[in-house]
Amino acid sequence: MSEALQNEILPLEIEELTFEAGGKRLIKEVTHKFRAGPRTVILGPNGAGKSLLLRLCHGLLKPASGKIRWCGAAADDPARHQAMVFQRPVMLRRTVAANIDYALSLRGMDRDARKVRVEKMLESTGLSRLANSPARVLSFGEQQKLALARAWAVKPRVLFLDEPTASLDPAATHAIEDVIDAIHKAGTRIIMTTHDLGQARRIADEVLFMHRGRLLESSPADAFFERPEDEQARAFIHGELLWWDQPETRLQ
Ligand SMILES: Nc1ncnc2c1ncn2[C@@H]1O[C@H](COP(=O)(O)OP(=O)(O)OP(=O)(O)O)[C@@H](O)[C@H]1O
Ligand SMILES: [Mg+2]
Repeated sequence: MSEALQNEILPLEIEELTFEAGGKRLIKEVTHKFRAGPRTVILGPNGAGKSLLLRLCHGLLKPASGKIRWCGAAADDPARHQAMVFQRPVMLRRTVAANIDYALSLRGMDRDARKVRVEKMLESTGLSRLANSPARVLSFGEQQKLALARAWAVKPRVLFLDEPTASLDPAATHAIEDVIDAIHKAGTRIIMTTHDLGQARRIADEVLFMHRGRLLESSPADAFFERPEDEQARAFIHGELLWWDQPETRLQ
């Protein structure tokens, strides 16, 4: 198998995906094909179901019904070729460098190769000067950079990011977006959630718009922002509040 195909798990096809919890249907018949290439931003108001959809795709939650299918040449072991970064990352009680090193050791990489990769990740994310600091004393923004470095270190084919800048100030947000851009350019497929329109405009090649557990629109980013087809998406882009209608979530 050629090197490019060795980790190719895309496309990812999800079909009629439904998720239920606490007696409610929270994700409703979502169908989409994630192809290789573009950066996908899953956009929508708080409570839309963005994080749930991401967790379903990453295999952390089990759907009530529907299909999740990885279709690439390496799809027999999809877990090995994907990673996820959460809004509030959990750091190990070790140094910054050791956090990255640990992620690599779990993948069975030998010590010399790990050393080179850790250095490269620290440099690429601007964390070199903090290499020997305990990870848990880092600021939120620095911790989020470390979470990205740790996930990127294993060279995943697909990286899921759940609101990676939600609690960060504009400067830290900008720095994280730069790292996301570098990860994309290095060949990792980015699939991320945000409720921040500005961020979606800066990052997205493709937008999936969610509301009340449904995927209401999926379009190339230019088309989405210029001519959103869905009425709720239009309202969201124009800054109008979208209400979460609780009765609609109840199971029949
Ligand atoms: N285990 C659960 N049991 C019951 N309800 C849940 C559960 N997990 C999530 N929910 C509900 O599902 C809905 C969608 O949650 P989700 O976290 O996916 O939203 P989101 O779009 O990521 O919102 P945010 O922008 O606030 O992160 C919310 O109303 C949430 O309260
Ligand atoms: Mg969320």
